[in-house]
Amino acid sequence: MCGIAGYLGFRKAYPIVINGLQRLEYRGYDSAGVVLVDGNEMSLYKTKGKVSDLKKIMKQNNVEGNLALGHTRWATHGVPNDENSHPHLSNSGNLVIVHNGIIENYDTIKKELITRGYTFKSDTDTEVLINLIEEVKIKNNCKLGYAVQMALTSVVGAYAIAVFDISKPNEIIVAKLGSPIAIGIGENNSEFFVASDASPFIEYTRNAIYLEDEEMAIIKLGEEIRIRKIQDNAEVVPEIQQLKLNLEQIEKGGYDHFMLKEIHEQPQSIVDAYRGRLLASTGMIKMGSVDNNISRFLNANRIVIVACGTSWHAGLVAEYLFEDLARIPVEVEYASEFRYRNPIINKDDIVIAISQSGETADTLAAVKLAKSKGAFVFGVCNVVGSSIARETDTGAYTHAGPEIGVASTKAFTTQITVLALIALKLGNLKGELSNSMYNHYIQEMSLIPAKVEEVLKMDKEIEKIAAIYKDAPNCLYLGRGFNFPVALEGALKLKEISYIHAEGYPAAEMKHGPIALIDEHMPVIVIATKKGHYDKVVSNIQEIKARNGKIIAIVTKGDTIVREIADHVIEIPETEEAFTPLLSTIPLQLLSYYIAVMRGCNVDQPRNLAKSVTVE
Ligand code: F6R
Repeated sequence: MCGIAGYLGFRKAYPIVINGLQRLEYRGYDSAGVVLVDGNEMSLYKTKGKVSDLKKIMKQNNVEGNLALGHTRWATHGVPNDENSHPHLSNSGNLVIVHNGIIENYDTIKKELITRGYTFKSDTDTEVLINLIEEVKIKNNCKLGYAVQMALTSVVGAYAIAVFDISKPNEIIVAKLGSPIAIGIGENNSEFFVASDASPFIEYTRNAIYLEDEEMAIIKLGEEIRIRKIQDNAEVVPEIQQLKLNLEQIEKGGYDHFMLKEIHEQPQSIVDAYRGRLLASTGMIKMGSVDNNISRFLNANRIVIVACGTSWHAGLVAEYLFEDLARIPVEVEYASEFRYRNPIINKDDIVIAISQSGETADTLAAVKLAKSKGAFVFGVCNVVGSSIARETDTGAYTHAGPEIGVASTKAFTTQITVLALIALKLGNLKGELSNSMYNHYIQEMSLIPAKVEEVLKMDKEIEKIAAIYKDAPNCLYLGRGFNFPVALEGALKLKEISYIHAEGYPAAEMKHGPIALIDEHMPVIVIATKKGHYDKVVSNIQEIKARNGKIIAIVTKGDTIVREIADHVIEIPETEEAFTPLLSTIPLQLLSYYIAVMRGCNVDQPRNLAKSVTVE
């Protein structure tokens, strides 16, 4: 995720764009840049850091001009630094681009462009795209709009882009596939705004067009906007909407809280986590960092996973995945314990560090310790260029996009997605997973985003259940197998945002102690999916009911047995048991969210917590 803000019109562009970028920082904030055109003069400023760092640089510089494009970045290719920041220029210096998204085949295109004499200053996919556009433009001696269109037909991936030619400072071309882009329209087409959402221009105009996927727009000062389909050139009649949301609602995508927005982003973030890796059409999983170290993975004695909090829970799911699918022994360690207990690490062990922020002090220390003992350390991080991503030998990013809500949601499901891909690949290569099963799992994984979408539709039902239990002082969460870590995660979510005491247990552990807590006041959330030791979990549910406990059960769609016994059931679509955590987690996130809202808690910034725990 990145934020784009641009202006073309009669006002000074700089203040509009810089304020707009600040409003878009929730989309990414590791570097920022702006290009300004004043008459025939273009100036480009970019820096690692936040928009406030860019503002400091701009204090000493010319900020004149009526055309500007700005960008706040969430790194996907190349670490956050000045060079990798947007905007990017083509080799001639004439074409300018800002981009939000990922060009998956950029490496192939880059190699081809290099053979034809193009050079690159950054490691980004975006710089490749602008040079491809330039090559098409020069070769065909065509207009910019046509060159953008042609170039995009050879691109695989996701994008929202804004491009202009400095010799024609009255025109901006924008295009969209997968990433959002809005165009604000001033009176009589006297000014235009381009942005990732409408927040940068809400005080200037309420007239906006949201481009649809595979559409591009040619924006020319004083003229009506022209929109066409990228693939077949078909004309599209622009649909101008009247914006009704206020600024804060727009930044949160219309949701009341970032946490809710991020919960609802999961169908997309899971796709982003497997995009370019899960090749469902060819039945393959491709992951550069695993492929390049494949003999290490295949010959590993064991995998040791280090992480904290929610990431540790993702590690526990990974333990089940690696052991079940690839038959590799796994130990999952709290990073904080691992680093202080002189752990036994051998050179044939692989250590996997999982961290959303990539900055968690305990996980970082565990990585350093493992490296000092000669282990090969693999990182699964969300934040590109973060300390853990840099410290590990190699790794795979989760590409979840910025997670602003302190309680981790989409980070968890994308971590599981990435770890599941690795487990499946190793399982197949080790001969533990037949080609047909491997292919079956791959197909099943490609269906997960739509199934998450289906679970999210139960939002209102879950809100009703939350209203019944919002005043409970305690809560128990039970699950078995793959869903035991989900029970732990559900309990953590409830604790941290609603301040209700909650515990997660393997369901069968109930009788070894926690069952003493059960009475008519105790809500028990049980994950009872069809393939996961179902009969045994049903017996556990009976035991709780016999003691008058209240049951909220997460069941597989169509379940009739648990429905008879439980007080409430929430259905999730059927999938392979190994992938159920990706679905069963969602209702638990929503339940915690609604309970916290009803209790008047600060959902996005719960008390005593921080998003990045950079202290021990
Ligand atoms: C819980 C939560 C924390 C983090 C933990 C590790 O919702 O957000 O438990 O999971 O602090 O953080 P990362 O993943 O950034 O290392």
